[in-house]
Amino acid sequence: MTFKVGLLGLGTVGSGTAKILLDPAGRHPLVKELEIAKIGVRSLDKPRDIDLPATCFTTDLEAIVTDPDIDIIVEVIGGLEPARTLMLKAIENGKHVVTANKAAVALYSDELFTAAEKAGVYVLLEAAVGGGIPVIEPLKQSLCSNKINRITGIINGTTNYILTRMKNEGGDFGDILADAQALGYAEADPTADVDGLDAADKIAILAALAYGGRVDRAQVHSEGIRTVAAADIAYADSLGFVIKLLAVAQRCESQPGETEKLEMRVHPTLVPNDHPLASVNDVNNAIFVEGNPVGKVMFFGPGAGSGPTASAVVADVLNIAALLQVEKGSNQTGTRSLDPLLACSHQHECQVAPISETVTRFYVRLIANDQPGVIGFVGTCFGNHGVSLESIVQTHRKDGSAEIAVVTHDVQEGKFRQAMDELIASKEQINDVAAVIRVL
Ligand code: HSE
Repeated sequence: MTFKVGLLGLGTVGSGTAKILLDPAGRHPLVKELEIAKIGVRSLDKPRDIDLPATCFTTDLEAIVTDPDIDIIVEVIGGLEPARTLMLKAIENGKHVVTANKAAVALYSDELFTAAEKAGVYVLLEAAVGGGIPVIEPLKQSLCSNKINRITGIINGTTNYILTRMKNEGGDFGDILADAQALGYAEADPTADVDGLDAADKIAILAALAYGGRVDRAQVHSEGIRTVAAADIAYADSLGFVIKLLAVAQRCESQPGETEKLEMRVHPTLVPNDHPLASVNDVNNAIFVEGNPVGKVMFFGPGAGSGPTASAVVADVLNIAALLQVEKGSNQTGTRSLDPLLACSHQHECQVAPISETVTRFYVRLIANDQPGVIGFVGTCFGNHGVSLESIVQTHRKDGSAEIAVVTHDVQEGKFRQAMDELIASKEQINDVAAVIRVL
């Protein structure tokens, strides 16, 4: 029984997908049953190393998603539009969709999954988070008996590569970003990666699966790594930490009868050296899941790239083909009932707590006047707002000022910010707040 696949896009992930489908030997026998019917590309003139007749290629992507012969659409063009419209049109035409598009899924999940449920088709997205790392299906299936308390992830390879090099070489963000761009590790426009937007898309997707609800992407607090300085990486190192861009989705503590809320945030974080995420380096990703009763589970591997991402795409295509094979074998007719563990049928909105309610430790680096009483002043400002300090280190700088690095105990972010406002208001004592970074 053959299943026809329409591939939208033949870039890095599309080419990797086509290569797997055209080379089934040694893979699951079902790969042989997958036939690439059409490939939608931007230009027919570009030379390609994909061994398919010219008639397979078209620039008419709409014709692919409405083609009655095609069973499964693979959307790997990325971006919001026309990806959203093409996926919706494919769904409307009764086609299953496999996508690697984290931005479109994070923003339009409600629209896409509501349409998919109505049409009785699957929209699978293993490749959208963590590239080749299996994490979507484990959250949907293998871990589904758990109550997930927290997901902490390094889910952006570009920023992990930059932070790893900053630590190893002692370099500044700007220089290493420029080098990463020249080497092809960072995009020419690095905004989505370095400002934490890509990681925010991905954690919104993971949270929706882990907590069984829709997550409003706009409510995910995100800060990037542009402000991380070599000095902070050095301080972190001396205090026993490494700085990583973490994405966190966590259940807030709630009283009986209270609506449960989630913390949803992306920001640079001081990670203790003995935490499993501290040793995830270079372009690798890792997702650390804490659930009850499973405990702590970490998924690690290549978070991007042609082969790893295509591996996840083809796994989704195979999952759908397997379900269709069973369905056709049993001669089922009429409206399809979707597998409830594989489809995303939840309808309720997860409540997201404002960042001011987050409880965490903070690392702060201040530039102060090196004068009697300055340390006492810093301690008093924090104390006035109930912020307890875990450590405080002062270093004399060549220009006569003092650099003060503080680590707080756990504190509600709102109270911490009030203390910082009081510190900043005193111009005679504090010249600059050079860094504020949360601590895991
Ligand atoms: N821009 C992403 C990253 C690629 O750097 O991780 C995979 O989503």
